[in-house]
Parts: sequence; C-alpha cells; structure tokens
Amino acid sequence: MSRSEQCRAFAPGSIGNLACGFDVLGLALEGPGDEVVARWTTKAGLTIRAIHGDGGRIPLEAERNSAGGAARAVLDELGVRGGVELIVHKGLPLAAGMGGSAASAVAAAVAVDGLLRGGLSPESLLRCALAGEAVAAGEAHPDNAAPSLLGGMVLVPTWEPLRVIELEVPRELMAVHVHPHCEVETSAARRVLGDRISLHDAVTQWGNTAALVAGLFREDWEIIARSVEDRVAEPLRAGAVPGFYEVKRAALDAGALASSLSGSGPSLFALCRGRARAEAVGRAMVEAFRSAAGLEADLLVSPGRAPGARILES
Ligand code: HSE
Repeated sequence: MSRSEQCRAFAPGSIGNLACGFDVLGLALEGPGDEVVARWTTKAGLTIRAIHGDGGRIPLEAERNSAGGAARAVLDELGVRGGVELIVHKGLPLAAGMGGSAASAVAAAVAVDGLLRGGLSPESLLRCALAGEAVAAGEAHPDNAAPSLLGGMVLVPTWEPLRVIELEVPRELMAVHVHPHCEVETSAARRVLGDRISLHDAVTQWGNTAALVAGLFREDWEIIARSVEDRVAEPLRAGAVPGFYEVKRAALDAGALASSLSGSGPSLFALCRGRARAEAVGRAMVEAFRSAAGLEADLLVSPGRAPGARILES
C-alpha cells in the first residue's frame, strides 16, 4: 500500500425510498453533495479537523458523526493505525430529505480509501458508509448511501447480508427534487411509523416495487407511473410537511409520472419523462409550496442516471 498526502472526494445527494421502495430503493441526484478531505496527520487516531457548511450543528467527535464513523470503518477494514484527519464540507442541507448524512459517510469512505490506496470494493465501501450512518443516527438505511456511492438508481434488497442491484434507468427519466425551507429529522420521522403494516398494504408495496423495476427495464412509462406509490411511510409522514398534498397534486397536474416524499422529507420528488416536463413540474411544485404553505423551496432537476461518488483530488 503506498501513501498520498491527501485525498478529496465528493458524494452526491440522493432521493431515498422512491415511494414504493421504502428503505431499499434510491436515486442519485446530479448537483449538490458533500466533500471530504482525508489526510495524514501526526496526531494518533482519527480526528475531524473541521466541518464547514453545517452552521456548527454536527458534532466534531469522529465517533458521533457519519463521516467519522465511515472513515473509522475503512481504517479498521484496512488495518491502518496511523493518524488520519478529515475536513468535511457540507454542500447538502441538514434534515432536508437529500441524503446528507449518507453523502458525508460515502465521501469519507471514498476519501480515506483513496488516501490509503486501499482499493476497497464498492460493496466494502458501502458497508463502511453504512457503519458511519449507524454511528451518527443509531441505524443505517442503504437507500441513500447506495445511490450516493454508485450513482443512478440502486436497489438494496437486503443489507444483512448486503445485496446491491444497480437498476436500468430509461435515458429520458428525470428526477425533480424540491426542498422547502423547513426541516424534518429522520429519527422523528421514523418514530411515527411504528412497526406494523397491514398485509394488504405490504402486498401492494412489494407488488409496486417489483412492477417499478419491470417498468424501468421495459421503459414502460405507464407501469412506472402506476408503481411509484407509497402505502407504508407517506400516509404517516405527509402531515409533517406543510403543503404536502397540494405540492404533490401540483406535480401530477403539471404532468409528473409520480410524486412522493424524498427520504423522510420535508423534500418532495417527482419523476418525469423528459427535461422540459421536469422543469415545468418543478416550477409548479415550488409555486405550490409558496401558495399552500408560505414556504420558499429550492428546485433541482436531475437525470435519472446521475453519477455517484468520485475522487476529486488525490
Ligand atoms: N429510508 C429512510 C427513511 C431514508 O425513509 O427513513 C431517510 O432519508
């Protein structure tokens, strides 16, 4: 294993769940993301030197932070004991439904692996990123970390053992992401779910997930539109997002194939065929947040096949 002085990596934001794929399906976004610089230091162990862009809200202790947890997992995996420090640049807003904590974990895993020239496989990097998310949040869900690492749309049917499937995505598929200026903590959004769903809802949910995968593979827009429906989380979480139903309605009226919460919210996403339609849908959703809830919102229109994490400098 040879050494470089430092490595800087980027990991994009992502849409978790994609409605029917609660906890198992996600999509990378093109645009903002988090960056992590990893470098050698004479101080023993792992330290986080600085976090920029979080307004001082994320703990600097490596063991309480998703980037720190992921970096620690990579160091353990590679059996490295030397001192390493991280600098985290948050490009993603906190508690936004953009997979920010997963992006920090992925960027840290990629940066530390790059620094060490470790050559870890994508599956090992994903495991390390999930370990980081678990450190920060108490539990990890792979539907943000997997697309943030790999790009495109990714299905993780099980994570113990880890199984990762990169899905076919039609070239014309576009994702619209609308982030209103309010926050939803994932931990709070999970507490409202409880741990029971009806057999009917379970059957509908897994039927829709399977149908969505088939629709993507066949480029069948009608199947895609009819499958992106969430019977599990959306009905219980929508109430925490001011204007949710109006914004979703605006997306569908403007021609979206489907719309739901992005991750645990408060952002909503929509899937669309073609960029022009996606931009019109996005504008309608932003306007609906303003008129229904008095909230300003940021719009992102991203191809369905957006790239995943990468090393920027090594
Ligand atoms: N699948 C997770 C959840 C994603 O919905 O709780 C959190 O962004």
